[in-house]
Amino acid sequence: MKGREKLCAKLSSAFLRKWWFVVAVSIGFLLFGIIVVIFFMSWVKLVINHEVTLRDGTQAFGWWAKPPVTPIIRIYIYNVTNADEFLNNGSKPIVDELGPYVYTEKWEKKNITFHENGTLSFNQEKIYYFDESQSAGSEDDVVVVPNIPMLSATSQSKHAARFLRLAMASIMDILKIKPFVEVSVGQLLWGYEDPLLKLAKDVVPKEQKLPYEEFGLMYNKNGTSQDRLTVFTGASDITKYGLIDKWNGKSNLSHYTTDQCNSVEGSDGSIFPPHMTKNTTIHIFDKDLCRRLPLVFDKEVVASSDIPAYRFTPPKNVFGSVEENPDNACFCPQGPPCAPSGFFNVSLCQYDSPILLSFPHFYLANDSYRTAFEGISPPDPEKHNFYIDVQPIMGTAMSAKARVQVNLAVSQVIDIKQVATFPDIIFPIIWFEEGLESLPAEMTNLMGLATTVPPIARATIAGILFGLGAVLLVIAIWRLVRGANRLSSLHLAPGHISQTNKTKDVPMSNVPKY
Ligand SMILES: *[C@@H]1O[C@H](CO)[C@@H](O)[C@H](O)[C@H]1NC(C)=O
Ligand SMILES: *[C@@H]1O[C@H](CO)[C@@H](O)[C@H](O)[C@H]1NC(C)=O
Ligand SMILES: *[C@@H]1O[C@H](CO)[C@@H](O)[C@H](O)[C@H]1NC(C)=O
Ligand SMILES: *[C@@H]1O[C@H](CO)[C@@H](O)[C@H](O)[C@H]1NC(C)=O
Ligand SMILES: *[C@@H]1O[C@H](CO)[C@@H](O)[C@H](O)[C@H]1NC(C)=O
Ligand SMILES: *[C@@H]1O[C@H](CO)[C@@H](O)[C@H](O)[C@H]1NC(C)=O
Ligand SMILES: *[C@@H]1O[C@H](CO)[C@@H](O)[C@H](O)[C@H]1NC(C)=O
Ligand SMILES: *[C@@H]1O[C@H](CO)[C@@H](O)[C@H](O)[C@H]1NC(C)=O
Ligand SMILES: *[C@@H]1O[C@H](CO)[C@@H](O)[C@H](O)[C@H]1NC(C)=O
Repeated sequence: MKGREKLCAKLSSAFLRKWWFVVAVSIGFLLFGIIVVIFFMSWVKLVINHEVTLRDGTQAFGWWAKPPVTPIIRIYIYNVTNADEFLNNGSKPIVDELGPYVYTEKWEKKNITFHENGTLSFNQEKIYYFDESQSAGSEDDVVVVPNIPMLSATSQSKHAARFLRLAMASIMDILKIKPFVEVSVGQLLWGYEDPLLKLAKDVVPKEQKLPYEEFGLMYNKNGTSQDRLTVFTGASDITKYGLIDKWNGKSNLSHYTTDQCNSVEGSDGSIFPPHMTKNTTIHIFDKDLCRRLPLVFDKEVVASSDIPAYRFTPPKNVFGSVEENPDNACFCPQGPPCAPSGFFNVSLCQYDSPILLSFPHFYLANDSYRTAFEGISPPDPEKHNFYIDVQPIMGTAMSAKARVQVNLAVSQVIDIKQVATFPDIIFPIIWFEEGLESLPAEMTNLMGLATTVPPIARATIAGILFGLGAVLLVIAIWRLVRGANRLSSLHLAPGHISQTNKTKDVPMSNVPKY
């Protein structure tokens, strides 16, 4: 009797021990599943951070240094068709928007030097090729536009001594300089000899501004930039990945009144710190913009090859007046008066020329600036907004349309007879759209993997672990409960258990080995 009970206890405890082990394993599976759910994305993050970091020889570095993309710049020119009536009869200026004149670009980072502290320096090269087939005209088209060097000089002389203005008038008389110039599109963009700049170069001391004798809106832009940029590679701090540390050795501009406005810590527009959210404000620094431009989340879009992306655009008050956007006060160091709402004064970066930037067709500015001209259609956000689509996980720009209009803020100067009838006006010259349309398949494929695989992998692995854990747990508990029931029946009526009963109850496969 005693020995039989002992055998039973021994049997059942070994039997139970086995199923308790299964319970432990299944709980292990469940715990591991929870760990996967919690930490999988962090591991993916670490892998992505490692992959995007700019290191010599990696694919990400190659794509960054020599992007396998063809950016396109489309340029629209406001041709003035009634220049004489505007000057002589005070007619409303009529402009004819010509274009697009299309250039394809090739970008490459030159002379790349790595530094110890997780930064690298380079010079940006941009080569422009005129694309006749996409353009609505040729580079030889003749256009009539305001004479920017002349009107800059006259507008600047507004507060100078009167005799200086009179002297200026006679010089302009001798040189036959007129307030409007007739130049080809190629000349307007890439440079033509300007008598005033030539004169200035000869007479003004060397160290004072205006280093060129040619004038062109994109003069000297075809080739390698002299500006040396130092950017963060992401090796030391991934949150600064792709951001500019120094521009020509300086970490701040000196034009404005606060560090916030002088900061150059923005992206060049190609790569951004990874893992952005919809709350992230990204910044783009461009030297011609003369500041860094903030961009905020606008909407989710599907960029090329079905990759989901976030569209970032400048906030509506980005160029707002100080009343609308107090943050802009520091961009007006000599103000008031400051640039009107919707315009940004870049004269400090343009040798004091009164150049104001805006969005095309005066988008976001008071409509009265547009209706001061005939021939400019109302702005359409679809066509005239500035945006960039970024793959938020990797921080790569997928597509972009950087749209900017260049305007000249002319001040009337009565003493200079050539421009005496040129009223105070903000005159649009050109607008352009620098765009990135799609990335090559090799890049989008990788991004597709990076965005779609991790969630699927996480769900799959977690699902398998949870499923396996749950099934094992259920079986084990069921077995344990059954075992416990039988055990209690054994204990209640030990004498009535027969050998045959036992073998019937416990399948052979479950008989533990002694
Ligand atoms: C620009 O306007 C002028 C008249 O002011 C005209 O002669 C010229 O043909 C126009 N250019 C183009 C390309 O239409
Ligand atoms: C401009 O004024 C001149 C002379 O005053 C006149 O002959 C011409 O018709 C006017 N043009 C326009 C467009 O009003
Ligand atoms: C590359 O940059 C370094 C550091 O600024 C400079 O000394 C060197 O001359 C540059 N080399 C070329 C080929 O531009
Ligand atoms: C990193 O080193 C470079 C070169 O020595 C220097 O110009 C740059 O300011 C440094 N950047 C930081 C963030 O320390
Ligand atoms: C830019 O320079 C390249 C050669 O360096 C030349 O082939 C191309 O025509 C130039 N583009 C323009 C618009 O001048
Ligand atoms: C540049 O700006 C940063 C903050 O944006 C500030 O800490 C730093 O002192 C400034 N450097 C200079 C040289 O003004
Ligand atoms: C993002 O913005 C929303 C709404 O303003 C806010 O509730 C949320 O906490 C923000 N998230 C982060 C990460 O800042
Ligand atoms: C633009 O800025 C310059 C320099 O700060 C200033 O002299 C000029 O008046 C400004 N122009 C406008 C239209 O605000
Ligand atoms: C636009 O400017 C006009 C005149 O300058 C002014 O009366 C009007 O209130 C302005 N509109 C807005 C929306 O600011």
